[in-house]
Amino acid sequence: MATAGRGQWSGKAGFILAAAGSAIGLGNIWRFPYTAGENGGGAFVLVYLLFVLVIGIPVVLSELSIGRFTKLNPVGAFKKLAPGTNWKWLGGLGVLTGFGILAFYSVIAGWTLSYLWGAITGHIGGVTTAAESEAIFTTLISGSYMPVILTAIFMILTVVVVRGGVSEGIERATKILMPTLLVMLVIMAIRSITLPGGMEGVAYLFSPDFSKLSVGVVLAALGQAMFSLSLGMGAMITYGSYFPDSENLPQAGVIVALFDTGIAFLAGLIIFPALFSVGVDPNGGPGLVFVVLPSIFAQLPAGGLFAIAFYFLLAIAALTSTISLLEVVVAYFVDEKGWARQRAAITIGIACFLFALPSALSQGAVGWLTDFLGTGITFLDLQNIIWGNYSLSFGALMLCIFVGWKWGIPAALVSLEASGHKLPASAFFSAMVRFVCPVAVGIILIYIMWTQQYF
Ligand code: PHE
Repeated sequence: MATAGRGQWSGKAGFILAAAGSAIGLGNIWRFPYTAGENGGGAFVLVYLLFVLVIGIPVVLSELSIGRFTKLNPVGAFKKLAPGTNWKWLGGLGVLTGFGILAFYSVIAGWTLSYLWGAITGHIGGVTTAAESEAIFTTLISGSYMPVILTAIFMILTVVVVRGGVSEGIERATKILMPTLLVMLVIMAIRSITLPGGMEGVAYLFSPDFSKLSVGVVLAALGQAMFSLSLGMGAMITYGSYFPDSENLPQAGVIVALFDTGIAFLAGLIIFPALFSVGVDPNGGPGLVFVVLPSIFAQLPAGGLFAIAFYFLLAIAALTSTISLLEVVVAYFVDEKGWARQRAAITIGIACFLFALPSALSQGAVGWLTDFLGTGITFLDLQNIIWGNYSLSFGALMLCIFVGWKWGIPAALVSLEASGHKLPASAFFSAMVRFVCPVAVGIILIYIMWTQQYF
């Protein structure tokens, strides 16, 4: 590891792969399609895309600029830039949010492991009807043991990589696997679109029906944009802190954001055509992807092998995201509390696994977790909404206020342009960070509290 015990990416390509590894994960392939399905399709997708462009990219750049300048975890970064103020709590919220997301994300990641196993044993490749597929899914997630064991396995994998440190662990895993995933997704999208009735799914995704828009849909789109880009909790501050001063950071940030969004759209182009082709309801909730995908494998030549490769890569994509979630929390304990990396990774991994238990058991195994405190949604869904939508959106809002009004755009630009590469359209960046993002996100959050449409 370079520079005084802190890791550094081996270069721009290393950073892009690692940051894309963080951004690309279950958020794109699991969360995006089912959230789009729950929120009526096209209109949600359009608002999501708008948020990626006008809020997502400016926030990516803001977080990266803080990270590269301070070379610290989120809490340390705010302490350094605004000493003696309460801004450090924003970093603290980010660390907490990373913990909160990891605790339910690892449950879903555990499901992917089970599907990988199912593909290896031939259970998944041979599924042809939606009912059969749904039965397999329900049996898997509603058990009392399997979801817990799978969550534990996934958490252990994450801890093992994070323990190893930045350049050795994270980079190596992403270099070959991300591009392979991309190629497989393209093949699957082509197969899915050309299924009988497939074009209906494309239309569902891309022809917006604005009567479906509501404040809930808009928040879901905002939360999804932040979640998918790993924003609003300091993951990009942390990853930016390992970015060498000699490389073009703005360009790398924009590439990561566009790459991530492209993958989400590809996932949509896989799920929705297949869904219309086999007659599954788009509003199927978190199980949507798991139920729909097997029907595509059955339609591909060597589908069984393809399924194995796909679930393997999906698990890896999830792993490169859980690594970044754990890394934020670990970096905090290492930088601020002086813990050894090993100890931090293991302790936090265990604590997070314990907090993941109620989510793992909320899919039917334990009644009061399944309809949590009369909310009508599962404990897992609630965590997803609290951390994934509210906390990340609030985090992004405060971050924009910090960069736009406290630290200042000129300082952010100095950091972003440290390598001498200019940020194109810096006036646009400034306008978004100072005005558009805070006002837009602020209005959404206030409106939700006012109308009490929390989920
Ligand atoms: N962006 C990741 C995904 O889409 C999830 C994530 C969110 C990772 C926030 C880090 C921080 O799967």
